[in-house]
Amino acid sequence: MKYAHIVGWGSYRPDKILTNNDLARMVDTSDEWIFTRTGIRERRIASERETTATLAFEAAARALVVADMHPSQVDLIIVATSTPEYIFPATASRVQDYLGATRAGAFDLSAACSGFVYGLSMAAQSIQSGAVRNAVVIGAETMSRVLDWEDRGTCILFGDGAGAVVLKGSSIPGGVLASTLRSDGSGGDMLSLPAVYHNPMPMLGPEYLRNGHQKNTVAMNGRQVFRFATQVVADSIEETVLKAGLTMDEVALIVPHQANVRIIETAAKRLRVPVERFYMNVESMGNTSAASIPIALCDAVSEGRLRPDDNVVFVGFGGGLTWAASVLKWDVTPPEVSLPRREWRRARYIVARTRSKLKKWRRKIIDTVAGSPTPNARMRDADKKQ
Ligand code: ACO
Repeated sequence: MKYAHIVGWGSYRPDKILTNNDLARMVDTSDEWIFTRTGIRERRIASERETTATLAFEAAARALVVADMHPSQVDLIIVATSTPEYIFPATASRVQDYLGATRAGAFDLSAACSGFVYGLSMAAQSIQSGAVRNAVVIGAETMSRVLDWEDRGTCILFGDGAGAVVLKGSSIPGGVLASTLRSDGSGGDMLSLPAVYHNPMPMLGPEYLRNGHQKNTVAMNGRQVFRFATQVVADSIEETVLKAGLTMDEVALIVPHQANVRIIETAAKRLRVPVERFYMNVESMGNTSAASIPIALCDAVSEGRLRPDDNVVFVGFGGGLTWAASVLKWDVTPPEVSLPRREWRRARYIVARTRSKLKKWRRKIIDTVAGSPTPNARMRDADKKQ
């Protein structure tokens, strides 16, 4: 099993739409300003009941249907996200549980907007090395929960959503051909989201945090990020295409991180490729960070932009600073999955949730009946009861 092919894909976008005009009623901005500077018209916002994990689950479940794969066949689940609900448990573990993927390892990956390409590369290498046979890679974000809705420089850019791919090992040449991963931590302050325990003034002690000075929202120097992005996108595409033994003329489609139309146009100019070869859906989705590339991939597939044997490039960039590119051959035609079979697949997830609840109850009952697992403590408990 030397090759890692994408055999399934799926995306999930929350129902609620926030338009530029809606934003203009919240901060001092306008549809015209946002659209001309970014290419964004609207973005999706997760409902109160939705979390990064539920978004990720929906995308992964759809991708598994396309791949016609049972969750128990999945060996590895990677969720690339900057907006996990918990530091631990990992969002990936929650998705594993929701899917009932009982034989899968699961972990989150933090590389901001490059996270999906990092995850794809990790999963492909695990398959190519023979360590796993099938993997699900998900990019999922609820950016709306970590934005300062009074900061017009950032709140206009981001949105929520999730996208996923299923990777399968195969002896047929193709799939992920080459990847390039890079980081420059010296630029970390250009784009950041502090963790819950972060104290920006440690010399003032924990009192500083208690006095309401802590800000756990996205901070960005837009101009610096713009300059950085336009430099790395073209370079990393060229480097990875060369590594894959291809030329730019042989690339059918480039699916870039959907941050800003102007960044993509500048990259196209630098590469001297027509901008039409870059797929864009930033207008309707905004910047969904790690989710943007797999969501754009799904849209490109449903618009018929990919044919068997096409060479495709994914390129991401973002906080860290990080940037990454992957080249792959799009060569597997998905099997047709009938409607009743799809519905049956959905029923499977209800079974998985019920099984998960039963496991929780069982643990509680054992805890109550058996008491402490330490023999000495158990004896003390028994003495007390007497
Ligand atoms: N509406 C109206 N005016 C605004 C807004 C807004 N939403 N935001 C800023 N302005 C004002 C500024 O205050 C400034 O006013 P001033 O000249 O009076 O000081 C003026 O517009 C110009 O501000 P700039 O920051 O220079 O605007 P710029 O043309 O650089 O556009 C933008 C800002 C859109 C953020 C741009 O820098 C950009 O796209 N940068 C890249 C951001 C990005 O893609 N980030 C994510 C990448 S990685 C990831 O996805 C996590």
